[in-house]
Amino acid sequence: MNAPLFNKLNMYKDSGIYPFHMPGHKMGRGIDMKDAFAMDITEIDGFDNLHHAEGIIEDAQKMCAKTFGADKSFFLVNGSSCGIIAAIMSVCGDGDKLIVARNCHKSVMDALVLSGAQPRYVMPEVVDDFNIFGAVSAENIENVCNANPEAKAVIIVSPTFEGIVSDIASIAEVLKKKNMLLIVDAAHGPHMRFNNFFPKTAIECGADIVIESLHKTLPCPTQTSVLHTSGNKVNMERLKKCLAMAQSSSPSYIFMAAIDKCRDYLDNEGKADFESYVNRIKNFREGVKEIKNLRLLDRSIVGRNNIYDYDLGKLVIFSDSINCIEIGDVLRKKYKIELEMSCPTHCLALTSVSDTEEGFERLKNAIIEIDKNLDMMEKRENVSFVFPKPKVKVSPRIAFNAQKMDVDLKDSVGKISAEYVIPYPPGIPLVSPGEEITNKIVSIINKYIESNVNIIGMKNSSLEKILVLM
Ligand SMILES: Cc1ncc(COP(=O)(O)O)c(C=O)c1O
Repeated sequence: MNAPLFNKLNMYKDSGIYPFHMPGHKMGRGIDMKDAFAMDITEIDGFDNLHHAEGIIEDAQKMCAKTFGADKSFFLVNGSSCGIIAAIMSVCGDGDKLIVARNCHKSVMDALVLSGAQPRYVMPEVVDDFNIFGAVSAENIENVCNANPEAKAVIIVSPTFEGIVSDIASIAEVLKKKNMLLIVDAAHGPHMRFNNFFPKTAIECGADIVIESLHKTLPCPTQTSVLHTSGNKVNMERLKKCLAMAQSSSPSYIFMAAIDKCRDYLDNEGKADFESYVNRIKNFREGVKEIKNLRLLDRSIVGRNNIYDYDLGKLVIFSDSINCIEIGDVLRKKYKIELEMSCPTHCLALTSVSDTEEGFERLKNAIIEIDKNLDMMEKRENVSFVFPKPKVKVSPRIAFNAQKMDVDLKDSVGKISAEYVIPYPPGIPLVSPGEEITNKIVSIINKYIESNVNIIGMKNSSLEKILVLM
């Protein structure tokens, strides 16, 4: 068959690779929807309409809200990205100020372009020894709110891709007094509701709008997410309109049914499965306790750098001696394990309730062996890709729409970027449209090139040139 994508997926499916990556159903292990295509319909009589839900879809959404502890839940069929865009567009119009944690995903920056909102950034601290972004504190947020009292809302990410959790309850308390909305991108946190081993969810902690990707950490297919609301500060009519704009007018019944089925699973047999899942995580962590060269992120970071809590379901492994992209390669080739991400400083195995005992065992044995093989390696120079607070020169929307030109990266210092530079994953832009390009930024891009980091967003894929404002 001459279908390159289909053929490659078929080969991957049969390759014996174990997926420590999304989606959380782990290549069908945790989901049974064999008749999915027979249920792939459209808005025929009796099947409700996502954009005007008042029948079975509304019933399913209500049950979902109950399970996740929200007042209202909206099914998303274009991933959390569309929920984030709709949430921001529902609170900010052109020129409105939005306080944004700058370690947010690119969809937040896209929402700034689409809505015309003016960002006021808050930088999380950097986690000592690990060189990743930590959390934002209530004090950080309060200071930026005091400087921008007219801001409409705050958006932060918690848990982060690496599992770092901010003190949402205290941040929500600050914002309640200021009558500002708290939006939390919890794309990586929907599983946290289902066992006390995990941190409390953003909805449980009082956020107004929370967006969760079920496909990331629960047994649900790619693109299935949910937007939850809580309290009475959210303008529901505007939010619904924005959701209808950001999502397909032909939402997939397969996706919506999968969300509904996943919710039913979580209400029933999922409870016991989560107990087993937690035990598997504990056994894995206990099993790799003796590693000496690799380091596994754990709760010892809680209390530092504003970190309020940590999601132990993320297995984030650091090496002080080799580029972790190499660890990803070894895991794939020698141990038949595919990770969610590997970058020069660390790699990430994404786990879910659908992971098997055998999968965890394979990863544990591989990590112990790789660690032993690193015994003779020298410590390398400290590598860091975290970046300082950007200088926003014009709003992302103005920069996106402006006249642009290509310049050599080496000549770009002092110019205003017209495009994104995004290491992917995790998708946090190093540069967004409207931000000044500094010496530090250019040196980080050069380090990305040297270290083989996958970059998206730039027109010039060789990364030698960057689009700037004329
Ligand atoms: C922190 C964060 N937020 C939002 C998203 C977007 O989620 P989705 O892929 O469900 O659109 C991602 C995707 O990787 C992410 O890492």
